[in-house]
Amino acid sequence: MTSEERDRRVLALYERVLEIEQRLIPTGLHTFGKPAAAAETVHLLSMVASFPRPELGLPALTDLVASGLGLPPYDRLMEESQSSGERMRERESVESLTRETVRRLLSPGDQPERAAALWLRQRAGVAADSALEILSFLSRLNLRLQSNRELEGLVAALRGNYLPPGPGGDLLQNPAILPTGRNTHAVNPYAIPSALALRRAEPLTRALLERHQQETGRVPESIAMVLWGIDNIKKEGEAVAQVLWLLGVRPVRDGLNRVTEVEAIPLEQLGRPRIDVVMTVSGIFRDLFASTMELLDRAVKRVAALEEPPERNFVRKHVQQQMARGQSTFQEAATRVFSNAAGNYGTNVNFMVLQSQWEDARELGDLFVKRKCFAYGRDARGRPLEGMEAQALLDSALSRVEASYQNIDSTEVGISDVDHYFEYLGGVTKAVEERSGKRPRVYLSDSLTPHSRVRTLQETLQLESRTKVLNPKWYEGMLKHGFSGVAEIEHQLSNTFGWSATADAVEDWIYDEVAETFVLDSQMLERLQSLNPHSAQTLVGRLLEAAGRGFWSARPEVLRRLREVFAGLEDALEGVAP
Ligand code: BEZ
Ligand code: MG
Repeated sequence: MTSEERDRRVLALYERVLEIEQRLIPTGLHTFGKPAAAAETVHLLSMVASFPRPELGLPALTDLVASGLGLPPYDRLMEESQSSGERMRERESVESLTRETVRRLLSPGDQPERAAALWLRQRAGVAADSALEILSFLSRLNLRLQSNRELEGLVAALRGNYLPPGPGGDLLQNPAILPTGRNTHAVNPYAIPSALALRRAEPLTRALLERHQQETGRVPESIAMVLWGIDNIKKEGEAVAQVLWLLGVRPVRDGLNRVTEVEAIPLEQLGRPRIDVVMTVSGIFRDLFASTMELLDRAVKRVAALEEPPERNFVRKHVQQQMARGQSTFQEAATRVFSNAAGNYGTNVNFMVLQSQWEDARELGDLFVKRKCFAYGRDARGRPLEGMEAQALLDSALSRVEASYQNIDSTEVGISDVDHYFEYLGGVTKAVEERSGKRPRVYLSDSLTPHSRVRTLQETLQLESRTKVLNPKWYEGMLKHGFSGVAEIEHQLSNTFGWSATADAVEDWIYDEVAETFVLDSQMLERLQSLNPHSAQTLVGRLLEAAGRGFWSARPEVLRRLREVFAGLEDALEGVAP
């Protein structure tokens, strides 16, 4: 290895460690009516301060610090620190100055905002006026974080009194969600995607295609994308905007400023082929965004009808191929917006996995398709499809997919916190695998830092496991909640297992370390058992299932011990004397 190669690898490793260290994680469950713990606030507010807020006319504190030090903007430092040691040092000094400023801001004393601003001027040459604006924004945010009106809000709602409305979402993306305890509202479907969402979606779409290109040598012709309602509410339709970018169209607003049309971006301007997108949409999205479903359907059909060369318009290419086989009309071959039957929700893949009700993994993909094969949009005569059963069309659209993709939008809910990511993204991945004959690449985007990025499923699982279930800060935070905390630990493992079942994406070391941390460590096992013997037993049972189904090559002595522990837990639960 050359010394340059060695430096490059060390830097890459360092960047991974930093990524884990800096990741915001929940360090306990939220107790309704209780404000966030003050100890977490410095970290949280430093992260909030590293996003520019153009809507408030505020730059990012990190950018102010960087510019005070004569450095490029923070997101460029983050980008370039991946390949330059010097940039890495500069990035770290920006981060530590930012954190220290926030720490001073939150320290008790007279006029902490002024004191923090003066300190920052001395240390980084930042003009006190511009720092003060951001610091007072952070101070107000801190006050709202420390207050909590959830119980009052609940009581007012139960009494039938007026409850002031407020947006829902993630604090990093939208600080206006505070204070909590208000009546959470959604967004006007005709308003999405917003201009901001459109702007943010473009680099992520580019990163997604680049990632696929790096790994396979070319862009994917067809992508399966999961669309959820709640994240499109929180981010004003950023995922919808990503679909439009992939297709190479722009939303067009009418005289009332409603998004009701799309127009094609000329190929020369787009500079790459139009990508085919199969959308599997949640029931919540369908209910909330009927006009958006129609817009997306219209966008696909508009693109399919463009007279462009097949190698530059994959939508048209696939539609023409399907029509040439003689079984589909244009409208059928261009159907890409699928959801549940009207009135139905979810894929049920999560239930099948978590209740161990499957023998062959093919059943998981088949169930996904059975639940999601209802087409939305309009037919050739402009009549709404309203969830027309169309399994053959979904089968055929999925058979061409090369990559599956979804956004992660919140620091609080990642792909192993809930069973919904694997039921959707995992479910569609398994369905594609069976229909195309090949497991697609699986990607997730993450815009939880100012430097948005696209990761593979494996990378995301590594990061999630390291920062949550294998992180003492995370599991000790959960264990403070006793019974529910043990249940959360078990859910992390079970949802991770869901990614084995649907995409075989969990590496052995993750199961090894979960077994070591929670079962082979007898003190820990005792804690789990005394707090919540049911979840403890499910956890051990899930590890045995992972080994039994061939997802984990566990060492024989570990398996032996797991079986012993499982039997012991069962006896204890059934009241059998040891
Ligand atoms: C959503 O559409 O927001 C959603 C769907 C399924 C699970 C969780 C969220
Ligand atoms: Mg749920």
